[in-house]
Amino acid sequence: MTTDHETLANLLKEDRRFEPPADLAAAANVSGDAYEHAAKDPGAFWAEQAERLTWAEKWDTVLDDSNPPFFKWFTGGKLNASYNCVDRHVEAGRGDKVALHWVGEPEGDTRDITYAQLKDEVSQAANALTELGVETGDRVAIYMPMIPEAIVAMLACARIGAPHTVVFGGFSADALASRIDDCQAKVIITSDGGYRRGAPSALKPAVDEARTKTSVVEKVLVVRRTGQDLGENGWDDDVDVWWHDAVGSASTEHTPEAFDAEHPLYVMYTSGTTGKPKGILHTTGGYLVGTSYTHHAVFDLKPETDVYWCTADIGWVTGHSYIVYGPLANGATQVLYEGTPDSPERGRWWQIIEQYGVTIFYTAPTAIRSFMKQGREIPDQRDMSSLRLLGSVGEPINPEAYIWYRNTIGGDRTPVVDTWWQTETGMIMISPLPGVTAGKPGSAMTPIPGVSADVVDDDGNPVPNGSGGYLVVTAPWPSMLRTLWGDDDRYVDTYWSRFKKQGYYFAGDGAKKDSDGDIWVLGRVDDVMNVSGHRLSTTEIESALVSHPKVAEAAVVGATDPDTGQAVVAYVILRENAGDGGADIVKELSDHVRKEIGPIAKPRQIMIVPELPKTRSGKIMRRLLRDVAEKREVGDVTTLADSGIMDLISAGQATST
Ligand code: WTA
Repeated sequence: MTTDHETLANLLKEDRRFEPPADLAAAANVSGDAYEHAAKDPGAFWAEQAERLTWAEKWDTVLDDSNPPFFKWFTGGKLNASYNCVDRHVEAGRGDKVALHWVGEPEGDTRDITYAQLKDEVSQAANALTELGVETGDRVAIYMPMIPEAIVAMLACARIGAPHTVVFGGFSADALASRIDDCQAKVIITSDGGYRRGAPSALKPAVDEARTKTSVVEKVLVVRRTGQDLGENGWDDDVDVWWHDAVGSASTEHTPEAFDAEHPLYVMYTSGTTGKPKGILHTTGGYLVGTSYTHHAVFDLKPETDVYWCTADIGWVTGHSYIVYGPLANGATQVLYEGTPDSPERGRWWQIIEQYGVTIFYTAPTAIRSFMKQGREIPDQRDMSSLRLLGSVGEPINPEAYIWYRNTIGGDRTPVVDTWWQTETGMIMISPLPGVTAGKPGSAMTPIPGVSADVVDDDGNPVPNGSGGYLVVTAPWPSMLRTLWGDDDRYVDTYWSRFKKQGYYFAGDGAKKDSDGDIWVLGRVDDVMNVSGHRLSTTEIESALVSHPKVAEAAVVGATDPDTGQAVVAYVILRENAGDGGADIVKELSDHVRKEIGPIAKPRQIMIVPELPKTRSGKIMRRLLRDVAEKREVGDVTTLADSGIMDLISAGQATST
């Protein structure tokens, strides 16, 4: 387990409680009765929630569990996700309501987009994609900055039943190519670039490079965002098409087709325990039911008065579920921000909250910790009294950060919802309800109504209160992943084999139940790291390192880091002909990882070592490497084949960074 016992003991000493504010509780979307109501008949509960959506044909069966773990939801039902997120709000007379307050990074570069305008743009993009040859079932890759066209592109794909795969703009050309290849995407939607920290940052060249590594891409649709020079060979007339030409000239009329509830909506790649990213498949009906319900219940959204802002990038699942599908299905008005939190000034986020009167704010602990470091003087310059609810996601939020968030950003008034979920779960699973739960700093509390989760021991038995174990989901839920793209076996192995007898979903996280039975998520129990809330696989980075010609062997661990939660620390054995390392080789290897995967995977530290600590059966003992990386005394070495090796590694570490 990544969190050591000392941290755990401290966490469980945390006894502060925050009751819901009376006014919020009195008007909350969901009351405490919901738990019991849902538990009595989960199928009936989810059917009630499904009524939130507009169905072209109603379902016959809420949950088809005839072939576990390949569960199906709302079978026989038909709907269109894009219609539910856009058209129906316009038809209900809310076309003039702002859907997106878009804030570009360059100051003053803003756009307000109403639901009626969104409907026109999504329709145009859907027509343009069809014109480019995209048919129902074809995959489309999206590689874009945080601009409105990214959302338009996703909804246009959904509208024509073409599953999208959004690849985070920070991923490299190689990472993009491998994802495109895995799901055989025939069209890429991208832009010339986006703005990062005050300067244009190119995206199109990575798409061009990715295209040289895969032969499946037929067309590339390019938004002109920065107007930057594309370079001499930066445009291929046979393949590249400008968005403003193709989409701009298309009709704003488009009739959405209703698809089966189980029609694939998107594939989102995420890191697993092997080198190859997993393509998490989400389908239409259940996913939309789960995301819209949780957005309504956990964020207490009042679409008429709230201004909601989730700071995630649409390249991650949080952006999919809580920028695009959940909030738009609920008719929310939201802020969408292109840039980094601290550009052009460190208080940019707080300025945006003040300017737009944001009421609900959803971000990640890593961001909160970095603001904490800068001091409260910066947020204190802004009037953030509009805020009424704060959310956290991506990693455990430490009590200090929770309290700072609540006090400094929330004026000591707002509840904080600490939401546990995953790319695989599609929706929030464990979280306080803001009008019901007395929050404890550091605890995600209890499964939301309709969800059953528990903490179990090695044999799958629930642990008693006060003990720790593995986090499991004990019953299917509507927005669950359906499989891994093209790999049913890996789906079954990864999630459903560990507790096969019980039929539980294994989340890969460790957790503890406190004396009240509330859940404290502790972090991954597998070889997945969580760096600034981003999931990275140790094996994936090891493979990247080993692909460098000078590297013989590599081991990667996630070391606890005060700012990023965990940080990547790599131990590398060089090949004999590579010389003795030194600063140059460390930089070379670091750049190599950046190129292979992307800047987010760059190690904090690379240590050149003569050997790696292995058991007699050849398994690398990462636990010991983590001890070194976290500057702890090295633990039990008796199972090592060569017990002297840790002395060599510990001694070498000071010179190798
Ligand atoms: C971690 C992000 C503690 C956890 C939505 C999970 C959390 C992984 C929390 C999923 C939380 C997410 N408290 N840990 N509130 N939220 N995690 O797929 O380890 O990018 O398994 O989904 O993040 O990361 P993913």
